[in-house]
Amino acid sequence: MAKPQAMIIGNWKMFGTAPMLAELAVMAAAIPAHVTMGICPPFTLIQRAAQIATGSRLLIGAQDVHPAEKGAHTGCISVAMLRDAGAQLVIVGHSERRADNFESNAMVKAKAQAALAGDLRTILCVGETAAERDAGNTLEVITAQLSGSLPDTLPAGDAALVIAYEPVWAIGTGRIPSAEDVCEVHAHIRAALQARYGQQGGAIAILYGGSVNPGNAALLLNLPEVGGALVGGASLTAESFLAIAAAV
Ligand code: PGA
Repeated sequence: MAKPQAMIIGNWKMFGTAPMLAELAVMAAAIPAHVTMGICPPFTLIQRAAQIATGSRLLIGAQDVHPAEKGAHTGCISVAMLRDAGAQLVIVGHSERRADNFESNAMVKAKAQAALAGDLRTILCVGETAAERDAGNTLEVITAQLSGSLPDTLPAGDAALVIAYEPVWAIGTGRIPSAEDVCEVHAHIRAALQARYGQQGGAIAILYGGSVNPGNAALLLNLPEVGGALVGGASLTAESFLAIAAAV
């Protein structure tokens, strides 16, 4: 089986109004053929971003989704709404949502299942806090997050589910784990995916996220079991985002 393409996904978080779309247009025009790339802008830019990305290889996604099909959920966005706006992927369980919005593993699982059922490629995030790492509990925390938030079943035969390992203490701090620590956690996630899904679990991409930038991308992206990167701050300009892709 051919090695799947590395996947570089940008998470713009709560950054970006219309002028940022100029960066996105530059990205869309310059994606290297050997890399899969996507940007998850704020909800308000998805439709315009999708229009700009039409005909390019840049995937457009969302940073969150509500698990229900529709209903009285003020301020929330459904899978069908994301698809209607042109989104092809979605991030669920980002640590900022787990912390700011008190999202439980069960909630993340419900979101992942709804997104996969609605044909959105789903990037499910896990990662330990600094206190959890310092206490020596990293692998236990990851195991608990995976067992509580992985969907029960996967759609047949494609790369619809993606895992992102994002140590909370590495997000936006400029600090990254050692290569050994990244390898240890990614191998642990791979084993958990295989235990859960059998052969299909062997094909799920596992991204690393947390302070990925053009300077450290080559190191991180060449580690075993690192299938790509989830990038926050360095995805806000075409120059740094494309420089990360060039490191693949
Ligand atoms: P960062 O964010 O690259 O700015 O550290 C990563 C993320 O939160 O996905």
